[in-house]
Amino acid sequence: MDEEAVSYLSSLRDDEEILLEDIEGTQAHVIMLYEQGIISGDEARQILRALEELKGEAAEGKIELRGGFEDVHELIESYIISRVGREVGGKVHSGRSRNDQVALDIRLRVRRYLLEIWREALSLGRALLSRAEEEKEAMIIHYTHLQHAQVGYISHYLLAHLDHLLRDLERLEACYHRVNKSPLGACAIAGSTLPLNRNRVAELLGFDGLVENSVDAVSSRDFALEAVAVAAIMMTNLSRVAEDLIIWSSSEFGYVELPDELASPSSVMPHKKNPCILELLRAKSGKIIGLLTSLLTIMKGTPTGYNRDLQEAKTLIWEALKEARDSAKILTKVVQGIRFREERILERVEESYAPAIELAEALMIHAKLSLRDAHKLVGALVRQLHDEEKSLKDLDYKTLEDVSEKVLGKRVNLPEEDLRKAINPKEATKARKTAGASTPNEIARVLEERRESLEKTAEGFEINLKKLLRSREKFEETIFMLIR
Ligand code: ARG
Repeated sequence: MDEEAVSYLSSLRDDEEILLEDIEGTQAHVIMLYEQGIISGDEARQILRALEELKGEAAEGKIELRGGFEDVHELIESYIISRVGREVGGKVHSGRSRNDQVALDIRLRVRRYLLEIWREALSLGRALLSRAEEEKEAMIIHYTHLQHAQVGYISHYLLAHLDHLLRDLERLEACYHRVNKSPLGACAIAGSTLPLNRNRVAELLGFDGLVENSVDAVSSRDFALEAVAVAAIMMTNLSRVAEDLIIWSSSEFGYVELPDELASPSSVMPHKKNPCILELLRAKSGKIIGLLTSLLTIMKGTPTGYNRDLQEAKTLIWEALKEARDSAKILTKVVQGIRFREERILERVEESYAPAIELAEALMIHAKLSLRDAHKLVGALVRQLHDEEKSLKDLDYKTLEDVSEKVLGKRVNLPEEDLRKAINPKEATKARKTAGASTPNEIARVLEERRESLEKTAEGFEINLKKLLRSREKFEETIFMLIR
């Protein structure tokens, strides 16, 4: 091939991510070829030995992905041939195509990424849970439209994001099982006349089963699209947490303070403490959405079967999954280290009009007003207090009576005790009766339940990880038995 053409189409550099996967996938294929009588024990031994050496060098970072190769698959095959000769090494690719080979490598690599993201998301979940536990008593304002909405608790905010994350974890787990299937043995697209044992390869590599249909096996990348989509959705959630914390760390809000070791100084302004990590997380979530869009667009027009377009998808997949993993990891540190300035937040809570809704509901419950009348009356009260530069907690019984006479044409009959409770933020939250509300009782219940949900997904993670480790042990044992 023309040198420039090879350099244009070569994926060699992007294949660094799947170097190990390609070596191991090839080893599994070779073991199966031997077990099926397609190559001899001696041939298998020679090839496996060469691959073991290559694996060792790869693990030490000694392999340079260079030369005029189109990809890592060519490079490895030519390495084997250079080590054991063409007569033996030339058999390694029997019954295999680069099409099923690269699909296998991508599945192996995405599987590994998903486990890493799973682990980091679990840590983040634990951090959110333990901060929610710590902040159980601390109040905050819940915002809508970024305006004071209702008063509540920091822990309720944190638990909301834990619930987001638990759904991310559910999506991740489901995706993991769809990824963890072996495409190898599909050959170029329609199978092989050699007596390959596809299930054996799947077993050796710790897959749960096969991507059965050979056309599907080489054509599909939906497993990777799904993984990136899961990552993009998770990142969208994380990005909103980042955004909240960025706003809350501004001088105007001053609700949170980043630990020094997670904040960036300015090169010129000595007083600065910039939330750069969170800004980058916000940006990276945008980037991952872009990567997902690129991937979907690359895929949508390719005819069924392998097309070289699919090669261009690989780096996008690595990049998206790596960024998602690292983002979950760094956000865990932020969540663990961030300080909520509870006193300052409480000042904002106490001067807020946010308990207005509880006051309106008290008027409905105790003074038997309709929602509309209560809404009208409390709206007028808030306007008057606002004009007098007072907060809701300054509302006295006389003002309530006067204003109600004015706007409703009657005196409301709200016991003074109920008025006092309704405009006191803490009392107001305690009076909430709905499931899932920002009230101490519900928060305490939810904390316990979510602890269990987290442990359940942690169990799922451990089970899958152990399964892989066990099959890896067996795989290595099998190689060892064949090469000794
Ligand atoms: N480098 C290619 C990729 O990453 C490998 C598959 C090439 N297959 C082919 N038939 N040219 O997708």
